[in-house]
Amino acid sequence: MLSRDENQLLTRVGPDTPMGHTMRRYWLPALLSTELADADGAPVRVRLLGEDLVAFRDTTGRIGLLDEYCPHRRISLFFGRNEDCGLRCVYHGWKFDVNGRCLEMMNEPEERQFTSKIHITSYPTVELGGVVWAYMGPADQRPPVPDFAWTRVAPSHVHVSKVIQESNWLQGLEGGIDTSHAPILHRLINASSARPGFLPSNPFVRGKAPTLVVDLTEYGYQYAGIRNLDEASVHIRTYHFILPFHQIRPSTSERGVPLVAGHMWVPMDDGNTMVYNWEYSMTEALDAEDRLERRLGNGPADVDQATFRSRRNRANDYLLDRQVQKTESFTGIDGINTQDRAIQESMGRVVDRSREHLGPADKAIIQARRLLLEAVKTVQDGRAPRGVGPSYYTLRASEGVVPRDADWREILTPEMATAEILQTV
Ligand code: FES
Ligand SMILES: [Fe+2]
Repeated sequence: MLSRDENQLLTRVGPDTPMGHTMRRYWLPALLSTELADADGAPVRVRLLGEDLVAFRDTTGRIGLLDEYCPHRRISLFFGRNEDCGLRCVYHGWKFDVNGRCLEMMNEPEERQFTSKIHITSYPTVELGGVVWAYMGPADQRPPVPDFAWTRVAPSHVHVSKVIQESNWLQGLEGGIDTSHAPILHRLINASSARPGFLPSNPFVRGKAPTLVVDLTEYGYQYAGIRNLDEASVHIRTYHFILPFHQIRPSTSERGVPLVAGHMWVPMDDGNTMVYNWEYSMTEALDAEDRLERRLGNGPADVDQATFRSRRNRANDYLLDRQVQKTESFTGIDGINTQDRAIQESMGRVVDRSREHLGPADKAIIQARRLLLEAVKTVQDGRAPRGVGPSYYTLRASEGVVPRDADWREILTPEMATAEILQTV
């Protein structure tokens, strides 16, 4: 549980809020590279931390991320012309380059143009792993660019998608670092069901309710859900949480290829989140079927690729089928991440955390809140928060059945590539 004040502190992300300031100390996913496929292509609207922005790729391939509204009379530059190394407002023809400099004013005679006095807000960007990242914080505090293991692999082996979640970002993150729900919410109740979810035979489902171990690190934490399977063995599933909103977890592709996967819950504003979903293979390349993400419900079949809104959504109760809920899956909703969005959106845009009743199974969530509150304080004190790099660069997650008396860290840590563990809670 959080007090109302703490809840507000962590969930409000606008420009003049403490969490907003904290978020602005990190590189943030702004959009997918594929949305800006062509030089001089159509500009794209971006909503990020309560700001309306517009992104474009100029003639030379550079990316601009500008305030959406023209500094002249405030029309939307989404309607602008992307031409000859700049974005031109169609109202009076003012033109801006990727750095926000005003280059021309078509409505003023040449000798009366005051271009050098006009600057539009622009944020630096970098393209890595198929994502355009933006830095919206103070220039002298800019951290090294993101360098996750998944942003380093060849495009043939990595896949990234995105989908809008109609809730505050923290509800998404708290679902992603909550292993205790996963084999419950996402389980199938029929061994022969072909629907997405964990089959009853899966050790994740067969295991008892988990005990959680959280190892604090410089980037956030790694944690393990330990589930007793039988007299001799336990099932262990490990995750990483990297501040402010990254989750890394073990996964498998539609065809059974082992993957490392994760999400980033990027705040659009206080009530909306852009969820980025990534996965990569360390062995064979991903194929077209893998990239459809049918199992998760994040691909083109389930998410409109123009608006990034899920076709199964709050307005249609996520196409919940009560018959399927009786006979096949725990929820009756198809798509593992669709199930996550359904229950997280059902909490309302910003859940009232002063009314919760947390237990030991919520330990990872409690720790994440502590770390986020600590990060806000750290930034207020003028220091760099956890997770700005570079200790997370190589992280992976893993899963396995190990003997009960074995040291699971010894077995799994090499696979997880964890940096130094600072403290275990
Ligand atoms: S409003 Fe953009 S040029 Fe006038
Ligand atoms: Fe989930």
